[in-house]
Amino acid sequence: MKEKLEALLQGGLSELSDVTTEESLHELRVKYLGKKGLLTSVMKGLGGLSADERPLIGQMANVVKAQLEERVDSVLQDIRRKNKEEKLKSERLDVTLPGRRRPLGTKHPISQVIEDISAIFAGLGFKVAEGPEIEMDYYNFEALNIPKDHPARDMQDTFFVNDSIVLRTHTSPVQIRTMLKQAPPVRIIAPGTVYRCDSDATHSPMFHQIEGLHVDKGVTFGDLKGILTIFVNQCFGSGTGVRLRPSFFPFTEPSAEVDIACVMCKGKGCRICKNTGWLEILGAGMVDPEVFRHVSYDSEAYTGFAFGMGIERIAMLRYGISDMRLLFENDLRFLSQF
Ligand code: PHE
Repeated sequence: MKEKLEALLQGGLSELSDVTTEESLHELRVKYLGKKGLLTSVMKGLGGLSADERPLIGQMANVVKAQLEERVDSVLQDIRRKNKEEKLKSERLDVTLPGRRRPLGTKHPISQVIEDISAIFAGLGFKVAEGPEIEMDYYNFEALNIPKDHPARDMQDTFFVNDSIVLRTHTSPVQIRTMLKQAPPVRIIAPGTVYRCDSDATHSPMFHQIEGLHVDKGVTFGDLKGILTIFVNQCFGSGTGVRLRPSFFPFTEPSAEVDIACVMCKGKGCRICKNTGWLEILGAGMVDPEVFRHVSYDSEAYTGFAFGMGIERIAMLRYGISDMRLLFENDLRFLSQF
């Protein structure tokens, strides 16, 4: 029996040294130390031994059992330690890695231009005023001296909501709304969205304008020219040429269209300015007394000037954009350039 126990111990120890998983370790423990295991079956032979031998072999069996158990425990610790190390290695986090940056949007070029122009006029003492995009025919046309059958209505391809309500075709109705709300002096700009039934590379059915209005005692055409010259120099660079051409608007008299020297060729003539050297950027004039009558301003005591410009056109000139539709397609590859 002594030899059997020794062989069992050696066999057990050598098998244990090859074990790599908790499952096979469990199987081995059952094989050697389980109720129906090898040690138990050797111990069954104890009864056949003499009274002298029995305690000796019994003691030896206990030692074998203890050694095997101890080894099983230490192998189990080894396996668990190794598993943990591998897990730590594979799940390792490098806390020194830089974080992922969130992609940041950019301002839309139209918003950028509106903000820049508003800042220039804020510096000249103009406050921002607003009005609705769905507007009364009366404010959009009638009060601006464009009665129902006036040919000037054809210039503006109007979206009608019904007989008396339109999508505003320009920001000029904000002039009327402002003057009805407050007594002179008035010094405002009104940036906003406007609508006309027109669509091609240089026209969009929805676009943006900035209106300007200044009414006070003694305001002259010279003041208008002065303000616009300052504006052009700040917006397009100092020394940019400015030219006023006589024109017509029902709500200003006299009226002018304002050109700047071509931003591309500086006046020499190119494709952008159609070889004229000039680019038209806004309409302007002295407020027509007929408009003052509609808002009950005393046109004997007060004079004023007004102007209006298209934002898209200015954005296109500033950034060299050739097709207005690009501004409204929301293609990030385009927008993120600005
Ligand atoms: N409202 C005019 C337009 O849309 C521009 C303008 C505004 C002209 C103010 C004169 C004075 O074309």
